[in-house]
Amino acid sequence: MDKLLIRGGRPLHGEVAISGAKNAALPALCAALLTPQAVTLRNVPRLRDVATMRALLQRIGVQVQTHGERGGLTLQAADPLDPVAPYELVKTMRASILVLGPLLARCGRARVSLPGGCAIGARPVDQHIRGLQAMGAEIAVEHGYIEARLPPGRSRLRGARITTDMVTVTGTENLLMAATLAEGETVLENAAQEPEVVDLAELLIAMGARIEGHGTRRIHVQGVAALHGAEHHVVADRIEAGTFLCAVAAAGGRARLRHGRADHLDAVIDKLLAAGVEVEAGADGLTVTSPGGAALRAQSFRTTEYPGFPTDMQAQFMALNCVAQGPSAVTETIFENRFMHVQELARLGARIRIDGRTAFVEGGQRLSGAAVMATDLRASASLVIAGLVADGETVVDRIYHLDRGYDQMEVKLRALGADIERLA
Ligand code: UD1
Repeated sequence: MDKLLIRGGRPLHGEVAISGAKNAALPALCAALLTPQAVTLRNVPRLRDVATMRALLQRIGVQVQTHGERGGLTLQAADPLDPVAPYELVKTMRASILVLGPLLARCGRARVSLPGGCAIGARPVDQHIRGLQAMGAEIAVEHGYIEARLPPGRSRLRGARITTDMVTVTGTENLLMAATLAEGETVLENAAQEPEVVDLAELLIAMGARIEGHGTRRIHVQGVAALHGAEHHVVADRIEAGTFLCAVAAAGGRARLRHGRADHLDAVIDKLLAAGVEVEAGADGLTVTSPGGAALRAQSFRTTEYPGFPTDMQAQFMALNCVAQGPSAVTETIFENRFMHVQELARLGARIRIDGRTAFVEGGQRLSGAAVMATDLRASASLVIAGLVADGETVVDRIYHLDRGYDQMEVKLRALGADIERLA
Protein backbone atom coordinates (compact mmCIF):
# COMPACT_ATOMS: atom_id res chain seq x y z
CA MET A 1 0.00 0.00 0.00
CA ASP A 2 1.46 3.37 -1.01
CA LYS A 3 2.75 5.76 1.63
CA LEU A 4 4.25 9.22 1.55
CA LEU A 5 7.54 9.96 3.27
CA ILE A 6 7.96 13.63 4.13
CA ARG A 7 11.02 15.27 5.66
CA GLY A 8 9.63 18.47 7.06
CA GLY A 9 11.05 21.93 7.57
CA ARG A 10 11.53 23.18 4.02
CA PRO A 11 9.82 26.32 2.74
CA LEU A 12 7.90 26.07 -0.55
CA HIS A 13 8.88 28.19 -3.56
CA GLY A 14 7.90 28.12 -7.22
CA GLU A 15 4.87 27.49 -9.36
CA VAL A 16 2.34 24.68 -9.76
CA ALA A 17 -0.71 24.26 -11.98
CA ILE A 18 -4.04 23.63 -10.28
CA SER A 19 -5.95 20.78 -11.95
CA GLY A 20 -9.60 20.59 -12.95
CA ALA A 21 -11.98 20.12 -10.04
CA LYS A 22 -12.82 16.58 -8.99
CA ASN A 23 -16.26 17.64 -7.84
CA ALA A 24 -16.98 19.33 -11.17
CA ALA A 25 -15.53 16.55 -13.33
CA LEU A 26 -17.62 13.79 -11.72
CA PRO A 27 -21.03 15.34 -12.49
CA ALA A 28 -19.79 16.45 -15.92
CA LEU A 29 -18.94 12.84 -16.77
CA CYS A 30 -22.46 11.81 -15.70
CA ALA A 31 -24.04 14.58 -17.78
CA ALA A 32 -22.82 12.72 -20.87
CA LEU A 33 -25.53 10.13 -20.10
CA LEU A 34 -28.18 12.70 -21.07
CA THR A 35 -27.44 12.59 -24.80
CA PRO A 36 -26.54 9.95 -27.39
CA GLN A 37 -24.14 12.48 -28.94
CA ALA A 38 -20.48 12.96 -28.01
CA VAL A 39 -19.56 15.16 -25.05
CA THR A 40 -15.95 16.32 -24.90
CA LEU A 41 -14.46 17.41 -21.59
CA ARG A 42 -11.12 19.14 -21.13
CA ASN A 43 -9.11 19.68 -17.96
CA VAL A 44 -10.37 16.46 -16.36
CA PRO A 45 -8.04 15.69 -13.41
CA ARG A 46 -6.17 12.38 -13.22
CA LEU A 47 -7.70 10.91 -10.10
CA ARG A 48 -8.85 7.60 -8.72
CA ASP A 49 -12.45 8.87 -8.42
CA VAL A 50 -12.48 9.90 -12.08
CA ALA A 51 -11.21 6.43 -13.06
CA THR A 52 -13.95 4.86 -10.94
CA MET A 53 -16.63 7.00 -12.56
CA ARG A 54 -15.25 6.19 -15.99
CA ALA A 55 -15.44 2.46 -15.21
CA LEU A 56 -19.01 2.87 -14.00
CA LEU A 57 -20.05 4.74 -17.15
CA GLN A 58 -18.38 2.13 -19.34
CA ARG A 59 -20.28 -0.57 -17.47
CA ILE A 60 -23.49 1.32 -18.32
CA GLY A 61 -22.49 1.32 -22.00
CA VAL A 62 -20.80 4.71 -22.49
CA GLN A 63 -17.85 4.84 -24.90
CA VAL A 64 -15.01 6.79 -23.32
CA GLN A 65 -11.92 7.97 -25.17
CA THR A 66 -8.89 9.76 -23.81
CA HIS A 67 -7.31 12.55 -25.89
CA GLY A 68 -3.61 13.03 -26.30
CA GLU A 69 -4.02 16.45 -24.78
CA ARG A 70 -3.81 16.38 -20.98
CA GLY A 71 -7.16 15.91 -19.34
CA GLY A 72 -9.18 15.44 -22.53
CA LEU A 73 -12.00 12.88 -22.56
CA THR A 74 -14.79 12.23 -25.05
CA LEU A 75 -17.83 10.32 -23.88
CA GLN A 76 -20.59 8.97 -26.03
CA ALA A 77 -23.66 7.39 -24.47
CA ALA A 78 -25.24 5.93 -27.62
CA ASP A 79 -28.09 3.46 -27.23
CA PRO A 80 -28.47 0.88 -25.90
CA LEU A 81 -27.53 1.67 -22.29
CA ASP A 82 -27.82 -0.67 -19.34
CA PRO A 83 -28.99 1.71 -16.58
CA VAL A 84 -27.47 -0.19 -13.66
CA ALA A 85 -24.84 0.99 -11.17
CA PRO A 86 -23.66 -2.11 -9.29
CA TYR A 87 -22.59 -2.16 -5.66
CA GLU A 88 -18.97 -3.10 -6.45
CA LEU A 89 -18.45 0.23 -8.21
CA VAL A 90 -20.72 2.44 -6.11
CA LYS A 91 -19.36 1.36 -2.74
CA THR A 92 -15.95 2.91 -3.37
CA MET A 93 -17.33 6.30 -4.32
CA ARG A 94 -20.46 7.99 -3.05
CA ALA A 95 -20.56 10.35 -6.05
CA SER A 96 -21.70 7.34 -8.15
CA ILE A 97 -25.20 8.36 -7.05
CA LEU A 98 -24.85 11.10 -9.69
CA VAL A 99 -25.81 8.61 -12.42
CA LEU A 100 -29.30 8.17 -10.93
CA GLY A 101 -30.93 11.39 -12.23
CA PRO A 102 -29.45 11.25 -15.75
CA LEU A 103 -30.19 7.53 -16.20
CA LEU A 104 -33.78 7.91 -15.11
CA ALA A 105 -34.27 10.92 -17.39
CA ARG A 106 -32.65 9.24 -20.37
CA CYS A 107 -33.72 5.59 -20.04
CA GLY A 108 -36.91 5.90 -17.98
CA ARG A 109 -35.49 3.56 -15.38
CA ALA A 110 -32.38 3.10 -13.26
CA ARG A 111 -31.03 0.64 -10.74
CA VAL A 112 -28.37 2.21 -8.55
CA SER A 113 -26.80 0.70 -5.47
CA LEU A 114 -27.15 2.70 -2.27
CA PRO A 115 -23.77 4.31 -1.59
CA GLY A 116 -23.62 2.88 1.91
CA GLY A 117 -21.87 4.27 4.96
CA CYS A 118 -19.03 6.67 4.58
CA ALA A 119 -16.29 7.44 7.05
CA ILE A 120 -17.19 11.11 7.42
CA GLY A 121 -20.84 10.64 8.34
CA ALA A 122 -24.10 8.90 7.53
CA ARG A 123 -24.67 10.90 4.32
CA PRO A 124 -28.04 9.56 3.19
CA VAL A 125 -29.45 10.17 -0.31
CA ASP A 126 -33.07 10.70 0.75
CA GLN A 127 -33.19 14.16 -0.83
CA HIS A 128 -32.15 12.82 -4.23
CA ILE A 129 -34.92 10.19 -4.00
CA ARG A 130 -37.60 12.58 -2.77
CA GLY A 131 -36.82 15.09 -5.50
CA LEU A 132 -37.07 12.48 -8.25
CA GLN A 133 -40.34 11.22 -6.75
CA ALA A 134 -41.69 14.77 -6.90
CA MET A 135 -40.84 14.66 -10.62
CA GLY A 136 -43.06 11.61 -11.02
CA ALA A 137 -40.58 8.74 -10.58
CA GLU A 138 -41.65 5.57 -8.81
CA ILE A 139 -38.85 4.61 -6.47
CA ALA A 140 -38.36 1.62 -4.20
CA VAL A 141 -35.30 0.78 -2.16
CA GLU A 142 -34.85 -3.00 -2.22
CA HIS A 143 -31.93 -5.27 -1.44
CA GLY A 144 -29.57 -2.30 -1.16
CA TYR A 145 -30.57 -0.88 -4.53
CA ILE A 146 -32.55 2.19 -5.54
CA GLU A 147 -35.02 0.92 -8.15
CA ALA A 148 -36.38 3.91 -10.02
CA ARG A 149 -38.73 3.99 -12.99
CA LEU A 150 -41.29 6.14 -14.73
CA PRO A 151 -44.92 5.10 -14.25
CA PRO A 152 -46.42 2.98 -17.06
CA GLY A 153 -47.38 5.09 -20.06
CA ARG A 154 -44.99 7.95 -19.27
CA SER A 155 -41.81 8.55 -21.23
CA ARG A 156 -40.48 11.62 -19.39
CA LEU A 157 -40.16 12.96 -15.88
CA ARG A 158 -42.34 15.98 -15.23
CA GLY A 159 -41.21 19.34 -13.91
CA ALA A 160 -41.85 20.09 -10.23
CA ARG A 161 -41.08 22.62 -7.51
CA ILE A 162 -38.62 20.91 -5.15
CA THR A 163 -37.35 22.25 -1.85
CA THR A 164 -34.64 20.11 -0.29
CA ASP A 165 -34.48 19.90 3.51
CA MET A 166 -30.85 20.95 3.49
CA VAL A 167 -28.44 22.27 0.91
CA THR A 168 -27.00 19.24 -0.87
CA VAL A 169 -24.43 19.54 -3.61
CA THR A 170 -24.80 16.20 -5.40
CA GLY A 171 -28.54 16.28 -4.65
CA THR A 172 -28.85 19.59 -6.52
CA GLU A 173 -26.73 18.22 -9.37
CA ASN A 174 -28.75 15.02 -9.70
CA LEU A 175 -32.08 16.87 -9.78
CA LEU A 176 -30.70 19.52 -12.14
CA MET A 177 -29.59 16.87 -14.64
CA ALA A 178 -32.91 15.00 -14.38
CA ALA A 179 -34.87 18.24 -14.85
CA THR A 180 -33.17 19.13 -18.14
CA LEU A 181 -35.10 16.37 -19.95
CA ALA A 182 -38.34 16.60 -17.93
CA GLU A 183 -41.62 17.85 -19.33
CA GLY A 184 -42.25 21.42 -18.21
CA GLU A 185 -40.60 23.59 -15.59
CA THR A 186 -38.65 22.50 -12.52
CA VAL A 187 -37.75 24.92 -9.73
CA LEU A 188 -35.05 23.80 -7.31
CA GLU A 189 -35.34 25.75 -4.06
CA ASN A 190 -32.56 25.70 -1.45
CA ALA A 191 -30.18 24.73 -4.26
CA ALA A 192 -26.45 24.45 -3.70
CA GLN A 193 -24.53 27.47 -5.04
CA GLU A 194 -21.12 25.79 -5.25
CA PRO A 195 -18.97 26.66 -8.28
CA GLU A 196 -19.14 22.98 -9.27
CA VAL A 197 -22.94 23.25 -9.61
CA VAL A 198 -22.46 26.32 -11.80
CA ASP A 199 -19.89 24.48 -13.89
CA LEU A 200 -22.32 21.60 -14.43
CA ALA A 201 -25.12 24.02 -15.38
CA GLU A 202 -22.82 25.63 -17.95
CA LEU A 203 -22.08 22.26 -19.51
CA LEU A 204 -25.79 21.39 -19.59
CA ILE A 205 -26.61 24.74 -21.22
CA ALA A 206 -23.93 24.03 -23.86
CA MET A 207 -25.77 20.73 -24.44
CA GLY A 208 -29.02 22.60 -25.10
CA ALA A 209 -30.56 22.70 -21.61
CA ARG A 210 -32.59 25.72 -20.52
CA ILE A 211 -31.40 26.70 -17.05
CA GLU A 212 -31.50 29.97 -15.12
CA GLY A 213 -30.45 30.94 -11.62
CA HIS A 214 -27.51 28.54 -11.21
CA GLY A 215 -25.17 29.97 -8.60
CA THR A 216 -28.17 31.16 -6.55
CA ARG A 217 -30.46 29.38 -4.09
CA ARG A 218 -33.22 28.97 -6.74
CA ILE A 219 -32.60 27.28 -10.06
CA HIS A 220 -35.22 27.27 -12.85
CA VAL A 221 -35.10 24.59 -15.52
CA GLN A 222 -37.35 24.41 -18.60
CA GLY A 223 -37.23 20.81 -19.73
CA VAL A 224 -36.38 20.03 -23.35
CA ALA A 225 -37.10 16.88 -25.36
CA ALA A 226 -33.44 16.12 -26.15
CA LEU A 227 -29.92 17.37 -25.46
CA HIS A 228 -27.01 17.34 -27.88
CA GLY A 229 -23.24 16.97 -27.73
CA ALA A 230 -20.98 19.76 -26.44
CA GLU A 231 -17.45 20.64 -25.38
CA HIS A 232 -16.60 21.87 -21.91
CA HIS A 233 -13.53 22.92 -19.93
CA VAL A 234 -13.78 21.76 -16.29
CA VAL A 235 -13.36 24.57 -13.74
CA ALA A 236 -10.17 24.69 -11.63
CA ASP A 237 -10.25 22.81 -8.34
CA ARG A 238 -10.80 25.36 -5.56
CA ILE A 239 -10.12 22.74 -2.89
CA GLU A 240 -6.79 21.74 -4.43
CA ALA A 241 -5.88 25.44 -4.69
CA GLY A 242 -6.97 26.00 -1.08
CA THR A 243 -4.90 23.02 0.05
CA PHE A 244 -1.78 24.46 -1.60
CA LEU A 245 -2.53 27.87 -0.05
CA CYS A 246 -2.57 26.23 3.39
CA ALA A 247 0.57 24.19 2.63
CA VAL A 248 2.55 27.30 1.68
CA ALA A 249 1.06 29.24 4.61
CA ALA A 250 2.22 26.54 7.04
CA ALA A 251 5.62 25.74 5.49
CA GLY A 252 6.44 29.35 4.58
CA GLY A 253 7.66 30.58 1.19
CA ARG A 254 6.13 32.00 -1.94
CA ALA A 255 4.32 30.14 -4.67
CA ARG A 256 2.18 30.84 -7.68
CA LEU A 257 -0.83 28.59 -8.18
CA ARG A 258 -1.60 28.74 -11.88
CA HIS A 259 -5.36 28.61 -12.71
CA GLY A 260 -6.26 29.04 -9.00
CA ARG A 261 -9.34 31.28 -8.62
CA ALA A 262 -9.58 33.73 -5.75
CA ASP A 263 -13.29 34.35 -6.39
CA HIS A 264 -14.04 30.72 -5.50
CA LEU A 265 -12.00 30.83 -2.29
CA ASP A 266 -13.10 34.06 -0.60
CA ALA A 267 -13.86 32.50 2.79
CA VAL A 268 -10.54 30.65 2.97
CA ILE A 269 -8.49 33.58 1.68
CA ASP A 270 -10.13 35.95 4.20
CA LYS A 271 -8.96 33.67 7.02
CA LEU A 272 -5.46 33.37 5.55
CA LEU A 273 -5.17 37.16 5.26
CA ALA A 274 -6.31 37.53 8.87
CA ALA A 275 -3.67 34.95 9.85
CA GLY A 276 -0.94 37.08 8.27
CA VAL A 277 -0.52 35.36 4.90
CA GLU A 278 -0.34 37.39 1.68
CA VAL A 279 -2.53 36.21 -1.18
CA GLU A 280 -2.59 38.08 -4.47
CA ALA A 281 -4.98 37.30 -7.29
CA GLY A 282 -3.46 37.83 -10.74
CA ALA A 283 -4.34 36.94 -14.30
CA ASP A 284 -5.07 33.20 -14.30
CA GLY A 285 -3.69 32.41 -10.89
CA LEU A 286 -2.94 33.18 -7.27
CA THR A 287 0.31 34.02 -5.54
CA VAL A 288 0.74 33.18 -1.88
CA THR A 289 3.52 34.42 0.40
CA SER A 290 3.95 33.36 4.00
CA PRO A 291 6.56 33.78 6.74
CA GLY A 292 5.70 30.24 7.93
CA GLY A 293 3.07 28.89 10.28
CA ALA A 294 4.80 29.82 13.55
CA ALA A 295 4.71 33.51 12.55
CA LEU A 296 0.97 33.42 11.81
CA ARG A 297 -2.11 33.90 14.01
CA ALA A 298 -4.49 30.94 14.27
CA GLN A 299 -8.05 31.60 13.02
CA SER A 300 -11.39 30.28 14.22
CA PHE A 301 -13.99 29.32 11.63
CA ARG A 302 -17.18 27.33 10.98
CA THR A 303 -17.83 25.30 7.88
CA THR A 304 -20.96 26.14 5.91
CA GLU A 305 -22.28 25.79 2.40
CA TYR A 306 -20.75 27.90 -0.36
CA PRO A 307 -19.91 30.77 -0.24
CA GLY A 308 -19.04 29.98 3.39
CA PHE A 309 -15.92 28.18 4.58
CA PRO A 310 -15.86 24.78 2.79
CA THR A 311 -15.99 21.60 4.85
CA ASP A 312 -13.50 20.21 2.33
CA MET A 313 -10.91 22.74 3.62
CA GLN A 314 -11.53 22.23 7.33
CA ALA A 315 -8.85 19.61 7.99
CA GLN A 316 -6.13 21.43 6.03
CA PHE A 317 -6.74 24.76 7.79
CA MET A 318 -6.78 22.99 11.13
CA ALA A 319 -3.26 21.66 10.44
CA LEU A 320 -2.19 25.28 9.93
CA ASN A 321 -3.91 26.34 13.17
CA CYS A 322 -1.87 23.75 15.10
CA VAL A 323 1.38 25.59 14.38
CA ALA A 324 0.08 29.18 14.16
CA GLN A 325 0.01 31.22 17.37
CA GLY A 326 -2.98 31.35 19.70
CA PRO A 327 -6.10 29.30 20.35
CA SER A 328 -8.75 28.64 17.70
CA ALA A 329 -12.13 26.97 17.49
CA VAL A 330 -13.06 25.00 14.38
CA THR A 331 -16.74 24.09 14.05
CA GLU A 332 -17.91 21.52 11.50
CA THR A 333 -21.57 22.03 10.60
CA ILE A 334 -21.91 19.94 7.40
CA PHE A 335 -20.77 16.45 8.41
CA GLU A 336 -21.16 14.88 11.84
CA ASN A 337 -17.95 12.87 11.88
CA ARG A 338 -15.28 14.87 10.16
CA PHE A 339 -12.60 15.17 12.83
CA MET A 340 -10.79 11.91 12.24
CA HIS A 341 -7.60 13.77 11.38
CA VAL A 342 -7.50 15.13 14.93
CA GLN A 343 -6.08 12.03 16.57
CA GLU A 344 -3.50 11.64 13.81
CA LEU A 345 -2.48 15.32 14.09
CA ALA A 346 -2.12 14.65 17.83
CA ARG A 347 0.44 11.93 17.03
CA LEU A 348 2.53 14.69 15.43
CA GLY A 349 2.30 16.81 18.59
CA ALA A 350 -0.82 18.88 17.90
CA ARG A 351 -3.00 19.83 20.86
CA ILE A 352 -6.68 19.61 20.01
CA ARG A 353 -9.73 18.94 22.15
CA ILE A 354 -13.05 18.00 20.55
CA ASP A 355 -16.33 19.03 22.12
CA GLY A 356 -19.30 18.01 19.97
CA ARG A 357 -18.97 19.63 16.57
CA THR A 358 -16.16 21.98 17.62
CA ALA A 359 -12.44 21.28 17.81
CA PHE A 360 -10.47 23.59 20.12
CA VAL A 361 -6.91 23.92 18.88
CA GLU A 362 -4.08 25.15 21.06
CA GLY A 363 -1.74 26.80 18.59
CA GLY A 364 1.98 27.38 18.62
CA GLN A 365 2.98 23.71 18.76
CA ARG A 366 6.22 22.39 17.34
CA LEU A 367 5.20 19.29 15.44
CA SER A 368 7.52 16.31 15.29
CA GLY A 369 7.45 13.69 12.53
CA ALA A 370 5.77 10.35 13.14
CA ALA A 371 3.92 7.59 11.33
CA VAL A 372 0.28 8.56 10.73
CA MET A 373 -2.66 7.10 8.91
CA ALA A 374 -4.85 8.84 6.35
CA THR A 375 -8.54 8.26 7.09
CA ASP A 376 -10.27 10.17 4.33
CA LEU A 377 -9.44 12.40 1.42
CA ARG A 378 -9.12 15.80 3.05
CA ALA A 379 -7.78 14.35 6.32
CA SER A 380 -4.90 12.96 4.25
CA ALA A 381 -4.13 16.41 2.90
CA SER A 382 -4.05 17.87 6.41
CA LEU A 383 -1.53 15.22 7.48
CA VAL A 384 0.67 16.05 4.50
CA ILE A 385 0.58 19.75 5.47
CA ALA A 386 1.46 18.87 9.06
CA GLY A 387 4.29 16.65 7.79
CA LEU A 388 5.71 19.55 5.77
CA VAL A 389 6.21 21.60 8.95
CA ALA A 390 7.06 18.79 11.40
CA ASP A 391 10.65 18.12 12.47
CA GLY A 392 12.12 14.97 10.96
CA GLU A 393 10.32 12.26 9.04
CA THR A 394 6.57 11.80 8.74
CA VAL A 395 5.15 8.76 6.99
CA VAL A 396 1.52 9.09 5.86
CA ASP A 397 0.03 5.65 5.31
CA ARG A 398 -3.08 4.74 3.27
CA ILE A 399 -2.66 7.53 0.79
CA TYR A 400 -5.07 5.88 -1.61
CA HIS A 401 -7.47 8.32 0.03
CA LEU A 402 -5.31 11.18 -1.21
CA ASP A 403 -5.13 9.71 -4.72
CA ARG A 404 -8.92 9.69 -4.89
CA GLY A 405 -9.01 13.46 -5.05
CA TYR A 406 -5.56 15.03 -5.64
CA ASP A 407 -3.82 14.98 -9.00
CA GLN A 408 -0.19 14.03 -8.20
CA MET A 409 0.01 16.00 -5.01
CA GLU A 410 3.50 14.83 -4.07
CA VAL A 411 4.85 15.63 -7.55
CA LYS A 412 3.49 19.17 -7.28
CA LEU A 413 4.83 19.64 -3.75
CA ARG A 414 8.24 18.38 -4.85
CA ALA A 415 8.18 20.96 -7.66
CA LEU A 416 7.81 23.58 -4.90
CA GLY A 417 10.86 22.22 -3.08
CA ALA A 418 9.25 19.89 -0.54
CA ASP A 419 11.18 16.77 0.46
CA ILE A 420 8.44 14.24 -0.18
CA GLU A 421 8.45 10.85 -1.84
CA ARG A 422 6.05 8.01 -2.51
CA LEU A 423 6.96 4.64 -1.07
CA ALA A 424 5.30 1.74 -2.85
C1 UD1 B 1 -20.34 17.14 -1.93
C2 UD1 B 1 -18.89 17.00 -2.32
C3 UD1 B 1 -18.04 16.83 -1.06
C4 UD1 B 1 -18.31 17.95 -0.07
C5 UD1 B 1 -19.82 18.10 0.19
C6 UD1 B 1 -20.14 19.31 1.04
C7 UD1 B 1 -19.00 15.98 -4.50
C8 UD1 B 1 -18.78 14.77 -5.34
N1 UD1 B 1 -18.75 15.86 -3.20
O1 UD1 B 1 -20.72 15.92 -1.31
O2 UD1 B 1 -16.66 16.85 -1.46
O3 UD1 B 1 -17.67 17.64 1.17
O4 UD1 B 1 -20.52 18.24 -1.05
O5 UD1 B 1 -19.65 20.46 0.46
O6 UD1 B 1 -19.35 17.03 -5.00
N2 UD1 B 1 -27.63 14.96 3.10
C9 UD1 B 1 -28.76 14.28 3.49
N3 UD1 B 1 -29.56 13.71 2.53
C10 UD1 B 1 -29.28 13.80 1.21
C11 UD1 B 1 -28.14 14.51 0.81
C12 UD1 B 1 -27.34 15.07 1.78
O7 UD1 B 1 -29.05 14.16 4.69
O8 UD1 B 1 -30.05 13.25 0.39
C13 UD1 B 1 -26.77 15.60 4.12
C14 UD1 B 1 -25.40 14.95 4.19
O9 UD1 B 1 -25.40 13.85 5.04
C15 UD1 B 1 -24.55 16.10 4.70
C16 UD1 B 1 -25.19 17.33 4.08
O10 UD1 B 1 -26.51 16.93 3.71
O11 UD1 B 1 -24.64 16.18 6.11
C17 UD1 B 1 -24.49 17.88 2.85
O12 UD1 B 1 -24.19 16.82 1.98
P1 UD1 B 1 -24.04 17.00 0.41
O13 UD1 B 1 -23.93 18.44 0.06
O14 UD1 B 1 -25.09 16.20 -0.26
O15 UD1 B 1 -22.64 16.32 0.15
P2 UD1 B 1 -22.24 15.55 -1.15
O16 UD1 B 1 -23.00 16.13 -2.30
O17 UD1 B 1 -22.28 14.09 -0.91
